[in-house]
Amino acid sequence: YSSETEHDVVVIGGGPGGYVAAIKAAQEGLKTACVEKRGALGGTCLNVGCIPSKSLLNNSHIYHQINHDVKKRGIDVGDVKLNLGQMMKAKEESVSGLTKGIEFLFKKNGVDYIKGTGTLVGEHEIKVNPLEGGEVKTLKAKNIIIATGSEATPFPGLEIDEKKIVTSTGAIALTEVPKKMVVIGGGIIGLEMGSVWSRLGAEVTVVEYLGAIGGPGMDAEVSKNIQRTLGKQGIKFKTGTKVVSGSVEGETVKINVEAAKGGKEETLEADVVLVAIGRRPYTEGLGLENLDLETDERGRIVIDSEYRTKLPHIRVIGDVTFGAMLAHKAEEEGIAAVEYISKGYGHVNYGAIPSVMYTHPEVAWVGQSEQDVKASGKEYSVGTFPFSANSRAKTNLDTDGFVKFIADKETDRILGIHIVGPNAGEMIAEGVLALEYGASCEDIGRTSHAHPTLSEAFKEAAMATYSKAIHS
Ligand code: FAD
Ligand code: NAI
Repeated sequence: YSSETEHDVVVIGGGPGGYVAAIKAAQEGLKTACVEKRGALGGTCLNVGCIPSKSLLNNSHIYHQINHDVKKRGIDVGDVKLNLGQMMKAKEESVSGLTKGIEFLFKKNGVDYIKGTGTLVGEHEIKVNPLEGGEVKTLKAKNIIIATGSEATPFPGLEIDEKKIVTSTGAIALTEVPKKMVVIGGGIIGLEMGSVWSRLGAEVTVVEYLGAIGGPGMDAEVSKNIQRTLGKQGIKFKTGTKVVSGSVEGETVKINVEAAKGGKEETLEADVVLVAIGRRPYTEGLGLENLDLETDERGRIVIDSEYRTKLPHIRVIGDVTFGAMLAHKAEEEGIAAVEYISKGYGHVNYGAIPSVMYTHPEVAWVGQSEQDVKASGKEYSVGTFPFSANSRAKTNLDTDGFVKFIADKETDRILGIHIVGPNAGEMIAEGVLALEYGASCEDIGRTSHAHPTLSEAFKEAAMATYSKAIHS
C-alpha cells in the first residue's frame, strides 16, 4: 500500500469481528485494509481463545475417556501416558492452520493486510506503527471499523506472570500438569480450562463469588446440573466465596478466601492459579482520545444501533463494544457494519445469539433463562426431557443432562432453550433457527427428528411444553 492511497474501509483489529468485516467489505467491492498488531490474523479467538481451548478440551476429553470410560465399553487398554508436548503441538497446528487460512482469504478477496498497531490520529487518518519496525505510515480511510477486542480483567493484587498466576493465555500453554490449580471465577473460561487440567490430572478448585457457576445468562437449573456433573468428574467448587488476597511463596501460590457475605477465612494452596473473572474492552494505543470518542464506565466504546460512534463514519464491533463477548456475535456485527456502509442497512438479532460451554457434557442455550422470564412477570410453561431417557444417549453410555424449553404460556412461542448434554453445542443451532423464525414448541414437536439421535430429546422437550413427552 502507499500512504497516498485512500481506502474505502480500514478495519483496526483482525479478530473474528475485524477479519470478517474486512472480507465482507472487499466482497462488497470496497477497497479495504485490515490493520493487526499481533503478527497473525484471527484475534483472541483463533490465537489464544476459542480454537486452542477447544483443541485442548477435545484431546483432554479423549485422554480422560480412555482412562475412565472405555473399560465398560469393552475396550481394555494398556499403559496410558500423557504426552503434553504433543497435545500442545496438536493445538498449535490447529491454530496456525486456521490463522494462515485467513491470510489466504484476505489474498483471495483482495484485502490489504497491514501488520502493525493502528492509532486514530485524524477523523479519516490512522497512523500505523509497523510490527517489524520501519517507517510509521498513515492510512487514509473513508470509513473506519474498530474491532480491537478485549483482554483478561486482572485481579487486584495478583500479578499475572502467565506461569504461576495465569489468565486463559497462560492456561492454554502450561508446560506441565499442575498438581493443584485454583481457578478464580466459575464462568465459561474457568469451567472450560478447569475441565482441561482436571482431566489431565490436576486437583482443581473453582472459587466463584456468586452462588452459582456458569457466568451471566446460564439458566439456574442448568447451572446446578452441570455443577453436579463436573463435581463428579473431580472439580471442587467453592461458590458464594470471594478471594481476599493472594501471594506467591516459592513454588506455591497462596490464595486467601472467605464467604462472600463475610465470615470464615481459609487459605488455598496451588501451584497454578487461573484468573478468569471476565474480560474487558481493549483500546490501548488506539487513540480514542485524539478524536474524543466516548467509552462507558466499563471501557466499552459507545455506539448507536448502527454501530456508529459520534463520528458516523467510524463504527465499532465485537468485544470492544456492548453485548456478549462471543466470536460469532462479533462476526455477525462485522457483516452488519459493512452492510450499513455498502447498502445502508444491516441486521443482527441479539435475541437469538447462542452460547456454548464446551465442557463434557456441553452446555448450550439461546434466548432467556427461566429466572429472566420469571423476573419479566410473563406467564410461561416449561418442558424438559432428560438424556437418560433418550435411546441414542443410552446407547452411547453418555446420559448426563437434559433439554429444557421455556415458552410463552399463552402463545407457546419459544422464549428460551437450554441444553446440558452431549453435542449440545451442535444441537442448539436448531433452537437458534426456531427462535429466529418465531417458532412455537408445537412447531418443533411436530417436526420429524431421525431415530436414534440425540435430537429426539430436543423434540421431546418441546412436546413436554405444550403436551407430554412420549418417552419419559
Ligand atoms: P479479538 O478477537 O480480541 O481481536 C482483536 C484484535 O485486534 C486482536 O488480534 C488485537 O491484537 C488487535 N488489535 C487491538 N488493538 C489494535 C490496534 N490498535 N491496532 C491493530 N490491531 C489491534 N468465543 C466464542 O464464541 N466461542 C468460544 O469457544 C470462545 N472461547 C474463548 C476461549 C478463551 C480462552 C477466550 C479468552 C475467549 C473465548 N471466546 C470464545 C471469546 C472470543 O475469543 C471473543 O469474543 C472474540 O475473539 C472477539 O472478537 P473481536 O474481533 O471482537 O476481538
Ligand atoms: P465470565 O463473565 O463468563 O465469568 C466470570 C465469573 O467470575 C463470573 O461467574 C463471576 O461471578 C466470577 N467472578 C467475578 N469476579 C470474581 C471474584 N472477584 N471472585 C470470584 N469470582 C468472581 O468471564 P470469563 O469466564 O472470564 O470469560 C470471559 C468472556 O470470554 C466471557 O464473556 C465469555 O463469553 C467468553 N468466552 C466464551 C467461551 C465460549 O463461548 N465457549 C469460552 C471462553 C470465554
